[in-house]
Amino acid sequence: MGDDLATDWPALLAAIVGRLATHPDLADFSDELGPCSGLTPIAAAATGVNLPVGRYWSAAIGGDPLGDLAARVTFALEQLGHGWRQNPNYRRQPPHPDFLENYGYQEWLGPDAAYRAAHLRCGVLVLGPRTLYPAHHHPAEEVYLPLGPGRWCREGEGWRDRMAGEVIHHPPECGHATESGDKPLAAIYLWRGAIAKAAEIA
Ligand SMILES: [Fe+2]
Repeated sequence: MGDDLATDWPALLAAIVGRLATHPDLADFSDELGPCSGLTPIAAAATGVNLPVGRYWSAAIGGDPLGDLAARVTFALEQLGHGWRQNPNYRRQPPHPDFLENYGYQEWLGPDAAYRAAHLRCGVLVLGPRTLYPAHHHPAEEVYLPLGPGRWCREGEGWRDRMAGEVIHHPPECGHATESGDKPLAAIYLWRGAIAKAAEIA
């Protein structure tokens, strides 16, 4: 894959929309995302920083069988992410002592991201190895596209092993949790709807 293709925002977004198309209930989510491919990137209003979780990025996608998407995400991180961020609720009250060393995300699309959107967010979450992201909830509707294997739990259901390429849907305020295995875990996330309110630990 040439660099030009990998750095192409419309191509990254098209790959994400293509994954959403495999889920029977998310066609309207794709309809909202699709037009964002025409956006022009601008300087991010809220820039992230270097955080310890950044050291896990390469390992998090190292075994991704869906290499095309992982490569595009890597270039998007280098060009658009403007560093790592953390939910201020978790920074104030970490759910466990090691959490902030092993958790962070970068955002490409959102109210203060390089691609500006008022009711959508898109970025990538990274967890260090053997890290539990405990049950949490938020009013935004959410989709995760994991780039590697991990365990995921949704309110009312048990823990399930999920692989790269699966589409994980969380309706608004539906509690959910994630746990990485021996390797770090990366997952693209999408939010829509009430995206202003940050997630809170359940
Ligand atoms: Fe979530």
